[in-house]
Amino acid sequence: MKILQITVIGCGYVGLTTSVALAYIGHRVHCIDQNQERVQALQNGIVPMHEMGVAELLGQLRDRISFGRWDSFNLTTEVIIIAVGTPRKDNGEADTSYVEAVARELGQRLSGDGLPIIVNKSTVPIGSARRVESVVSYYLKSRGINIPVTVASNPEFLREGVALYDTFYPDRIVVGANQGEAINILREMYAPILEQTFIPPEFLPRPDSYNLPAFITTTPTSAELIKYAANTFLAMKISYINEIAGLAERVGADILEVARGIGLDKRIGVQYLNAGIGWGGSCFGKDVQALIHTAGQYDYDMPLSSATIQVNLRQREEIIRKLQSALKVLRGSTVGLLGLSFKPGTDDLRDAPSITVAKRLIEMGAHVKAYDPVAMENCRKSHPELDMLYANSAEELAHGSDALVLVTEWKEFLSLPYNQLGKLMRQKVIVDGRNVLDRQLLTEAGFNYIGVGR
Ligand code: UDX
Ligand code: UDX
Repeated sequence: MKILQITVIGCGYVGLTTSVALAYIGHRVHCIDQNQERVQALQNGIVPMHEMGVAELLGQLRDRISFGRWDSFNLTTEVIIIAVGTPRKDNGEADTSYVEAVARELGQRLSGDGLPIIVNKSTVPIGSARRVESVVSYYLKSRGINIPVTVASNPEFLREGVALYDTFYPDRIVVGANQGEAINILREMYAPILEQTFIPPEFLPRPDSYNLPAFITTTPTSAELIKYAANTFLAMKISYINEIAGLAERVGADILEVARGIGLDKRIGVQYLNAGIGWGGSCFGKDVQALIHTAGQYDYDMPLSSATIQVNLRQREEIIRKLQSALKVLRGSTVGLLGLSFKPGTDDLRDAPSITVAKRLIEMGAHVKAYDPVAMENCRKSHPELDMLYANSAEELAHGSDALVLVTEWKEFLSLPYNQLGKLMRQKVIVDGRNVLDRQLLTEAGFNYIGVGR
């Protein structure tokens, strides 16, 4: 295997996971981040986010991975991976200003001796590979360096909470480039994953039925669209089952059985058919809107994608409606939220349904309490505006509450002593926003159990 010198810019969920995985399979990785605090923490082996296994692997790789700011940029690097944030603008467009800032830095720092391959791993609008190429070239030319710049698109498909798993055992690796050289270097970079020749980390064994991943090589434009289309489809599939769940409620069907009944059709597939409070996270909402925005620049409507967002927002409102019909009056009631993060396994609150529900309830005069095993610190920091009480346990959350809402399906919430919790509550109402609790057991414990689509 060829050991490559790799530089990753941006040490967030995507950048850090990618860096640790590439170092683990044998490459030398230097990570650059503008955030001094984050760099210092990482230099001391502290991982500033909750992501399974990253800290553990980082501890084993000190000789292969290093962290710094731009002043530590190493010109001998062979591959540069851009993984900075691309947050959403108010008009739904993806904000590429950080990616552009990185391109400018590179144009001002790179020398003419053998340019490295530049790779966009951040989710960037269509045409961004060419944009980065032109920005880097512009600044190189302004320094009298006139050589071709190669930028490839290599979107990530990792899910938070299982990011390392998705990086080591992907379904496919997509590379969009116009130059064969870029495709060859990236094939070499990923070779241990494409051929599964690396020894799996103890805590992350290779799944038995795992097939070798496909290596898709295409144009940058197609690669960029693959990323948006994939995320939009996944979000749409969830919104679809949530829409069906709304009807199931009205006709008296059970969405769990409906989802299974349709999902066993291999053309549909059972994954991403879990109805509930709706999707959240740093990617789905942002990427669906960015896709719609790009289409708008061509005067092209995307009604399916727009509806995907509308149905998702309605899903959060549905939770409020369920509480209203159970409690009648929300003003003065106390509602306890079981879970804050947008899904289990992460402390990430970006576009989390919990925040929307909490804000609505507070607006309507309810008292809101919340308990989450890992995301409360993050919530205090990123949502100081929320007049919400943070409970130290599920017992403290239930105490004096009129209703509980299961927002995040953390494993520990499935086996809570609901019998005891019910005795601490003012009214025994529970809204199962993820359809994961045992309806019969809760009903027998005297709860008014309210699911989604059942
Ligand atoms: C990011 C994007 O948000 C997502 O669209 C894309 O798909 C992958 O990368 P994520 O890793 O979750 O996702 O972002 P985030 O956790 O915000 O991390 C970005 C990192 O880049 C931060 O550590 C930030 O400090 C750093 N950064 C940002 C820079 O180093 N330089 C910049 O100019 C901007
Ligand atoms: C997603 C994509 O899955 C990943 O490929 C891409 O790279 C980044 O965006 P992530 O945001 O980490 O990953 O979360 P994911 O596990 O896909 O869940 C997204 C949201 O959908 C969560 O809020 C989750 O609770 C919700 N969801 C997921 C459902 O409501 N029902 C489902 O059946 C599956």
